[in-house]
Amino acid sequence: MAEFARNQKNFARLVQNPVFDLMIRLGRRRRRVYFPPVNNPTSVPTTAEKRVLYTQARQRIAALVADEPDRIARMAGIVAVLHGLLPHFFWTGFYRVSGGGLVIGPYQGTPGCGRIGWGRGVCGTAWATGQSQLVADVHAFPGHIACDARSASEVVVPARDAQGRVVAVLDVDGLVAGAFDEVDREELEGILKDWGEV
Ligand code: SME
Repeated sequence: MAEFARNQKNFARLVQNPVFDLMIRLGRRRRRVYFPPVNNPTSVPTTAEKRVLYTQARQRIAALVADEPDRIARMAGIVAVLHGLLPHFFWTGFYRVSGGGLVIGPYQGTPGCGRIGWGRGVCGTAWATGQSQLVADVHAFPGHIACDARSASEVVVPARDAQGRVVAVLDVDGLVAGAFDEVDREELEGILKDWGEV
């Protein structure tokens, strides 16, 4: 958290649009080094910080996917923006409903489990119930599938098509217990409601 707090001013600048970033770089403060947002999954933003970051994420996602007709490309854009902007995201990716199961991708993070069955783990539960799953402690979730033993918490949100069928789930893992809260669930649901029909 301390590292996140120290970088607040830089984050505030970095979440501006690219033209603004370029102006900053070329301006009189050009000697200052601006680092792009990088994941620091042990650092969990406050609720207010999350809201700011999600607002920026939504803007970037809209710009990326609005005119993109390809489903996988839209998913890849959503994953890339979220994983890049939200510092507490350790693993970020979709599992798509395919061939009677969930199939991984697109995703960012360490190698994930390729396929997950109906009702299996947190992802399969989100698919089977059609409900988002907010898991503060994955070890307390019966049947949790550990793709990376370092994952400690998780939020999984279903994505639906125009007919309301679940076509994929968005899975985000955190390195610390309780990394995700109702803000993450609500924001991710909002993003998938806008763009999840894919
Ligand atoms: N933990 C998930 C499996 C996917 S990985 O976290 C990438 C689950 O229990 O469904």
